[in-house]
Amino acid sequence: MDARSSTRKGWASRAGFVLAAAGSAVGLGNIWKFPYITGTYGGGAFVLVYLGCILLLGLPIMVAELIIGRCGQRDAIGSFLVLEGPDSRWKWVGAVSVVAAFLLLAFYSVVAGWSFDYVFKAASGEFSKGGTEQIGGLFLKLTASAFRGLFWQALFLAATAGIVIGGIRGGIERWSKILMPALFGLLILLFLHSMFSPGGMLALRFLFTPDFSLLAPRALLGALGHAFFTLSLGAGVMITYGSYLDAEADLFGLSFRIAALDTLVALLASLTIFSVVFSAGMPIDGGPGLVFKTLPILFLQLPFGKLLALLFFLLLAFAALTSAISMLEVVVAYAVDEWCWPRGRATGVVGLAAFFLGIPCGLSFNVLKGFALLPGHTVFESLDLLVSSYMLPLGGLMVAVYVGWRWTRDRQCSAFVNLHPEGRLFAAWRFVLRYFAPAAVLIILFNEAGWLG
Ligand code: PHE
Ligand code: NA
Repeated sequence: MDARSSTRKGWASRAGFVLAAAGSAVGLGNIWKFPYITGTYGGGAFVLVYLGCILLLGLPIMVAELIIGRCGQRDAIGSFLVLEGPDSRWKWVGAVSVVAAFLLLAFYSVVAGWSFDYVFKAASGEFSKGGTEQIGGLFLKLTASAFRGLFWQALFLAATAGIVIGGIRGGIERWSKILMPALFGLLILLFLHSMFSPGGMLALRFLFTPDFSLLAPRALLGALGHAFFTLSLGAGVMITYGSYLDAEADLFGLSFRIAALDTLVALLASLTIFSVVFSAGMPIDGGPGLVFKTLPILFLQLPFGKLLALLFFLLLAFAALTSAISMLEVVVAYAVDEWCWPRGRATGVVGLAAFFLGIPCGLSFNVLKGFALLPGHTVFESLDLLVSSYMLPLGGLMVAVYVGWRWTRDRQCSAFVNLHPEGRLFAAWRFVLRYFAPAAVLIILFNEAGWLG
């Protein structure tokens, strides 16, 4: 069967694909998580290690995922069925990814909902009422209210479904072309402003002066794990988005652009956040509350603070939305391609199901605070742990093994028109898939399981 000759109605343009895929990659991982783990792991040295992980591990695996989708021309499970036959066990690689995308959507929508709530707060002038204490208390008040949290979570999922229902060209690509440029514009504005604040220079120094004596082994593992999450790997996104690409697409070049945009956003967001924090003379390791608790207070101490806060949370909301779209699309594409469901029904059913699973995730911060799913972890934390620490690395590992070992040289070349099979880049790429990525991921997984002490 020649997958290259089959056509599937997909992206209107390559730029549209890059924006949509970068939209998936750029998310809460960049703006919420990366800054606080960089703070926790001590800055510069961690950033260097992280860049290494993106280039040496994330990028090669992204190419591999795109190849699978590009050649399979179906959803993340169906592509394996096309390539390997209906009875092949490789379909389980796709199955892990689709389940991961679904679980991810359920708990991602909780934090994404908070970002919607903060846009509303900033726009309605709630930040200007009361002093520092009240503003800091807003986060506690939000997470303590079961209803308020679920309301924004539902609204966020409805917005996500409203875009996905329009399909690739009319929904995902169209909205990515609006939301991503807006996101970049907001970020550059905030970044430039922050560079002129008193903490700007300090932030640059913190992020770009590596002090390797601060680098704990845990930081390396943190960087490895985050590389998968931040590039949306192991969740079937790149397989699914890649399946809508045309045959001539240069998968390596496209992957590079997506990874570069993701990295750029992570760095600019961190510099912005750190300069705001340093301007206030605070230490950085604020933890997960950094963005929602600390940042609004600090913004308000700067000139144009209310406007800045609004722009920042708008940025966060856009980033979360374009990522959630991709998670939903992975599952919707599966239902459309494998069960022949109409897109409308698939989007509605999967969106509702994600909301139902999302309810105990949202309630993990109030009503179900004391309920442990995995020992010592709320439902939200359990799903986050399961997906981010185990399923995504495992999915990425299996994709690497599949393309590295199972795929023959000819087939690789046919899908991979722009890399010369005798060239050094090709050899390096294959080496990563065959040896480096599996070894790295096994080390992360053993470590997470506590086997490395
Ligand atoms: N890459 C997204 C982020 O950084 C998260 C994500 C993971 C999205 C996996 C889709 C699939 O926030
Ligand atoms: Na990301």
